[in-house]
Amino acid sequence: MPILKFKTPKLDRNAPCWCGSGRKYKQCHEAFDEKLRHAEMMGHTVPAHALIKSPKDIEGIRESAKVNIAVLDAVADRIEIGMSTADIDRIVQEVTRNAGAIPATLGYDGYPKSVCTSVNDEVCHGIPDEKVILKDGDIVNVDASTILNGYFSDSSRMFCLGNVSEEKKRLVQVTKECVEIGIKHVVPWTFLGDMGDAVHQHALKNGYSVVRQIGGHGCGLAFHEDPWVSYVSTPGTEMMMVPGMVFTIEPMVNMGTDEIYQDEENGWTIYTKDGKPSAQWEVQVLVTEDGCEVITY
Ligand code: MF3
Ligand code: CO
Repeated sequence: MPILKFKTPKLDRNAPCWCGSGRKYKQCHEAFDEKLRHAEMMGHTVPAHALIKSPKDIEGIRESAKVNIAVLDAVADRIEIGMSTADIDRIVQEVTRNAGAIPATLGYDGYPKSVCTSVNDEVCHGIPDEKVILKDGDIVNVDASTILNGYFSDSSRMFCLGNVSEEKKRLVQVTKECVEIGIKHVVPWTFLGDMGDAVHQHALKNGYSVVRQIGGHGCGLAFHEDPWVSYVSTPGTEMMMVPGMVFTIEPMVNMGTDEIYQDEENGWTIYTKDGKPSAQWEVQVLVTEDGCEVITY
């Protein structure tokens, strides 16, 4: 008989709980671990304890998120036609530093700037540049990530500049709805695949496609943690969502094909293959006992 080995260990019931609450294991996460083990027995993927945030971690992530939200609020106030994407980078720098925080992208894997600014057919990871001037009719994603006291937060918004065509406005709106639908489908003890499929179906229903190769991620104690989060997924698959997990919902929705390519020169920026526009909104959520708390927006 093979011995089945599960990720969720059996622990001393009277020892302090692994979650850092200070309570005894039997009064804290014991029943939770039983549920995890049961799910594992059924063949599901469950998070390791390292992905379950402690109350202290959650407080730290919320504080980081306040700065992250303030950064995007400042961009929302000041973004305008004629400004360069490097100007957006300066706003992000200023607001982040003034709050005693650090932009998480700066120097991340060699990324050179404090924010990503992706215009029109740029899907993500557009690099702020003095030469990229925002024009009437552009749609731009501004993706900011923040480190405060070692805690990470991440979110992005779309901005429509001047007279944006009805079809681009609709893409931006439907992508926002995709995220709202994703948030509604963060239900503890169901699967990331359920949530991802709900997002995907809303995009498909509106005639759009969703990028497959790039997704969301756990986020909080590090910039990019497990799990990887797809928005082209199958219900009942992928990691189970359980209370205490923190991850992003950030689908990239394309007006045309889901095919993409990477900028060969800068090694970062992703574009749609057909040159049609792409939109993205990103929020960070904490799975709770009865749904989720939206930490960044
Ligand atoms: N905020 C992006 C994300 O959601 C950051 C990508 S890494 C970068 O993961 F270096 F390109 F910024
Ligand atoms: Co992200």
